Amino acid sequence: MSAVVRPAVFTSSASTGSSQAGALSAPGLPLLPPDRRRLGGEFDVVESGRRVVRYQMVEFHVMRLLAGWLAKIPEYELKLEIGRHVWQDAQHAESLRLRTSELRIPADADRRAPVEVQRFLDALDEAETPLQFLVGVYRVAKPRLISAMQYHMAVTDPICDAPTIRTLRPVMAEETEQVRWGEAAVEALIAGDPSRSEHTARWQQRLETVLSEAGGIVAQGTPPPPEPPSTPEVAMESLATLPRSQSPRSERLLIAARDARFYIDMTPRILPEDDDPPELLELEAVLAARRQSSGQTAQAERRPAEADRGLPPPVPLAQRDARFAMVHPAEQATRMPSPGDDWAEKGRRLMHGMMDNEMHAAELSGRNSYEFPRMPWEFHLDMARVVWDEIRHSEETCKHLEDLGGHVGMYPIVPGNFGYRIQLDLLHRLQDLHRRGELGGLNGLLKSRNTFREMGDEVGAKMFDFIQADETRHVAFGNRWVKWLLHDDPERLRLVGEEVDRMRIVHDKKVAALVMQALGDTGEAKPAAGSKQDDPTPVNVISLKIAGFSDEEIAELVQKGGGNAALE
Ligand SMILES: [Fe+2]
Ligand SMILES: [Fe+2]
Repeated sequence: MSAVVRPAVFTSSASTGSSQAGALSAPGLPLLPPDRRRLGGEFDVVESGRRVVRYQMVEFHVMRLLAGWLAKIPEYELKLEIGRHVWQDAQHAESLRLRTSELRIPADADRRAPVEVQRFLDALDEAETPLQFLVGVYRVAKPRLISAMQYHMAVTDPICDAPTIRTLRPVMAEETEQVRWGEAAVEALIAGDPSRSEHTARWQQRLETVLSEAGGIVAQGTPPPPEPPSTPEVAMESLATLPRSQSPRSERLLIAARDARFYIDMTPRILPEDDDPPELLELEAVLAARRQSSGQTAQAERRPAEADRGLPPPVPLAQRDARFAMVHPAEQATRMPSPGDDWAEKGRRLMHGMMDNEMHAAELSGRNSYEFPRMPWEFHLDMARVVWDEIRHSEETCKHLEDLGGHVGMYPIVPGNFGYRIQLDLLHRLQDLHRRGELGGLNGLLKSRNTFREMGDEVGAKMFDFIQADETRHVAFGNRWVKWLLHDDPERLRLVGEEVDRMRIVHDKKVAALVMQALGDTGEAKPAAGSKQDDPTPVNVISLKIAGFSDEEIAELVQKGGGNAALE
């Protein structure tokens, strides 16, 4: 075996007084494996940087697609894993972005893929079924991305470009796991059906062709045309009461959606307050026509949502698989009479309701990232984090449902918060979810923790404790982005808050009326979700501070909550 010349660093600390030349020619430590790395790789800084930018953007694009499709994929177990991948891909994109800043790529460089590669990325989104979408992501896009990164690691200078290699290694490891899971998911959905298998193979082939015509994931290709201005004139009738505004920061930001009339939950911005809900029958039809498996057709979204002047893409309801009976609120009320004092039954209902509702928050936040691609980078990272946390909350409550002897689908569910919020513009979605719903829930979660603890359910208590910590951060995200969208204008912030509260009251009243009607007005109706009840739990000041509220805002919130504050 030939002796390997070790770098001086191995002997420079020796206090033998040997000369520098002697140190360089000394043999390596005999017990260490020889370092066979040599200088010289195929890439210079420009090429390595260019490729890392491409990986970053592919990760980012696929992350947003997964986030947007979350609501369109019915199978509960697939949602859980896809939600995890959303966060993983966001983290991959972020670590790659950090590396690009070390490779002389300016922060504001145009990082968009060339036209041909973008065509491939867009083709993934044109899938006609969730199954096709998963095939595109896990059998084509991600494996190709892994191959490109593998090649990079193999041919780049292992010493000069070591930081890139170190960045790529964990990304590739996680991507490889994702692809393994994705393959199992695709196989499970094909379920041995030869015609499905054939359709799937054809679709895969089509995508492979588009990609090879583009020249592969890292192809140079045709530079994309200049981006359109991000804030053209928009109608602002929904916020006509606001003081003279500055330009909105997102095209669809201040435009109320107008085409989602079919669900009672979707009325607040569409029907006047005293209107009857004529859309119940339509809701029945929509509920009946729901997709229950990823093999069935999904509505394609071939146009960028932001360019459509306020009409949301066609994702009217979050999809659920065949185990879930999705009904309208009145039917749910008749099928679920009061549980009385049965603690276990109450616990199961709460877990089942949360399992579904937490998934709504994940699905909506995924849509926020998908539908508003031109929001700042950090917004997408925050939304990806919400997606991950919320699918875990759903997963946690599902597991605790099982602890309590329950199972998925044991109660009917309603289109609920997703159905309500998806028709709103971004500003109102964020305000309603983070600064109204989650903010209001911070105390309730601690109250639930204490109640579960008192009932001897320590597992449930700890679960609530962790969920509350996550939600505190989500409220902080809401504060960050609602304020950003409103240019930190406190007066507009107040007005939007009041508007969203008003909309909720109108909506809750309508749902409550429906429920009362269904129950023959027996007074058995549960209060509609989101309605205020007496809450003796003190307002948690530390959570509010972490969530980014100022001392004055906290004082106001404590006042609103009955003047009772606690530090915890
Ligand atoms: Fe949650
Ligand atoms: Fe949340």
